[in-house]
Amino acid sequence: MKIIRISITIVLISMANLLFAGDGMWLPLLLKALNEGEMQSMGMKLTAEDIYSVNQGSLKDAIAHFGGFCTSEVISDQGLLLTNHHCGYGQIQSHSTLENNLLKDGFWAQSQDEELANPGLFARFIVRMDDVTDKILAGVTKDMDEKERQSVVDKNIEEYKGTLRLKEFHDVIIRPFYHGNQYFSFQTVTFNDVRLVGTPPESIGKFGADTDNWEWPRHTGDFSLFRIYAGPNNEPAEYAEENVPYKPKHFLPISLDGVEEGDFTMIFGFPGRTNQYLPASAVEQIVETLNPAKIEIREKALAILDEKMRADEEVRIQYASKFARIANYWKKWIGESQGLVKTKAIDKKKRFEEEFKMKNRSNPSNVSLLPQMDQLYKANESYAFTRDYFSEVASRNIELLSVSSILGRLVNRYENNGEDAYNGYLGRVKGYLKGFYKDYRPDIDQEVFAALTEMYVKNVNPMYVPDELKNIKGTKGFQMLASNLYGNSFISNEDKMMELLDLEPTAAIEKLKMDPAYMLSSAWSSMIDEKVNKPYNENKAQLDELQRKYMQAIIETFPEKRFYPDANSTMRVSYGQVNGYKPKDGVCYTPVTYLDGVIEKYVPGDYEFDVHPKLIELHESKDYGQYADTNGQVPVCFLGSNHTTGGNSGSPAIDAHGNLIGLNFDRVWEGTMSDINYDKSICRNIMVDARFVLFIIDKFAGASHLIEEMELVHPKGE
Ligand code: ARG
Ligand code: GLU
Repeated sequence: MKIIRISITIVLISMANLLFAGDGMWLPLLLKALNEGEMQSMGMKLTAEDIYSVNQGSLKDAIAHFGGFCTSEVISDQGLLLTNHHCGYGQIQSHSTLENNLLKDGFWAQSQDEELANPGLFARFIVRMDDVTDKILAGVTKDMDEKERQSVVDKNIEEYKGTLRLKEFHDVIIRPFYHGNQYFSFQTVTFNDVRLVGTPPESIGKFGADTDNWEWPRHTGDFSLFRIYAGPNNEPAEYAEENVPYKPKHFLPISLDGVEEGDFTMIFGFPGRTNQYLPASAVEQIVETLNPAKIEIREKALAILDEKMRADEEVRIQYASKFARIANYWKKWIGESQGLVKTKAIDKKKRFEEEFKMKNRSNPSNVSLLPQMDQLYKANESYAFTRDYFSEVASRNIELLSVSSILGRLVNRYENNGEDAYNGYLGRVKGYLKGFYKDYRPDIDQEVFAALTEMYVKNVNPMYVPDELKNIKGTKGFQMLASNLYGNSFISNEDKMMELLDLEPTAAIEKLKMDPAYMLSSAWSSMIDEKVNKPYNENKAQLDELQRKYMQAIIETFPEKRFYPDANSTMRVSYGQVNGYKPKDGVCYTPVTYLDGVIEKYVPGDYEFDVHPKLIELHESKDYGQYADTNGQVPVCFLGSNHTTGGNSGSPAIDAHGNLIGLNFDRVWEGTMSDINYDKSICRNIMVDARFVLFIIDKFAGASHLIEEMELVHPKGE
């Protein structure tokens, strides 16, 4: 039986009749068929071909996946690359020492030979993308089970890749879309010599830190500058001093004319993951069970860290970045749950499902997909809950246990792959541990351990509690356990641990296996693997199959609607407008913030809201040059209704003509549920205004040589 091919490109209905819903992360190569008309009706002056073309330079040639986790864009003909400060954070930190603290003071290379190399960092462009569904699903039939289907798909992918003759640094990535109903291939070219050019100090690049994270009004200059270097003939090459700046096929000119409410905006980048097509039952589970568990655990851990950080400046420095990481998603999940409730996402999904069932009343196999999914989500609930609970407690928040599990991997290398594999991995583990202990306080971690293991035992089904924790009673009991464990473990002590790793592998492993933290970690995780992950994954495989069929059925049931594929770290375009929003009754946010607002938030000496004296001076003298808005102020951030998610950080905000107007770096808190249920009324992305970026480079840093290599334009003729 031949499978039914869904062709979304045939859904070429009259778009003008559709009200723009605002959401969507669209595939650049399908814009012509699906979006061009609508984008132009919203004010865009470009064609789909200007955005994505295989034959000539187009916007896509200026967009690079930055290290695989963020987006970046080329803004000069010499490979100058713009991304967020929080995307370049690891590199900026790695070049920082106490004496030469780039995080604190910022950094501006005065010439190209001062630009700093970053081993391991890459910038990856998309050369072309193609619909390869027919090739990848060839031989797949409806009656195959999931295993068979996957093995045919895997074989087809291998075969297809084998037919391509790729040059060095070129690759092809094949990804499933619409939950496995379609496959697209992406030919990429990767540059491995990407150097740091400039960064503002943290007081600008991270202004407002965790307090302002996910919030509007925002005043963060979240940007940093890198440069792509190439070898001979402008081809990618490994780092070499003699490499030269890359000449891009396209770079983005930068608009000096700024934005007004209602202006067309487009975000071009690599969004990571969304879940737009979950059934109501799955959303309900997220709101009622999974998010609350994760939030509760992080809240506890953050409270402990916060208290310690406030009491001791050294601890604050050691834990600032860990705290930020834990707080980021803690805050996101709270906003997400609240937003899902506020926008009645579950009811909305239920109504959609009723309509789906109605329209499919003569197709019982489609109708049955929903109850089947509901039942499986229910069956998987306690596994999903325990999985999340375990991972938050043992892998993400108790440092001793997460390090133990890395050591567990080292032991596995030895036992499964032998001594060479062990020795190969050992160097990496030692390198990791060196960085780890620098910022590690066993006394603080011990407190986190006691509090979180107590929560685990209280909230998780006793079936999934490891023996070591079973008979512990009361807060005191957990504190005693923690004190014993941390007192007796090698792992919580840097010197003992490093000494242990210098032993012969067999002796080291023997000692490790006697370590109480190691023993707890390995017993706990093998129990979870066996009793939780195994059944969870079996259910998950069935759910994936149902979700694929449901996706296909949705598309066939509503041929008049356009559906965009969930984000999967591939290149996408979102579009919308510059727009404020009303977060709640009586409150109305305007879409642009100004430097005046930075000064309003200024708290001298504060680690989140301090302001650099130079910036205060520029504000006082109103020395804004060509970067002020029509009201005479320098804009800092602005809001848009573009659909974005994690991974879109660093994405360019592009105007109607293809010029850079800003840099995406966050979403508003009330709208973080857009990963599951986008709602035009409160989902907004947050961008740094391009003029603020230029103002900081030029007026604050005095790096006018960088401004000179850019192309500044006046598309509005202002
Ligand atoms: N919320 C943004 C994102 O999800 C920014 C995170 C970095 N900033 C911070 N204060 N943690 O990545
Ligand atoms: N800060 C996010 C990132 O690093 C973007 C914000 C979001 O999740 O939309 O990609």
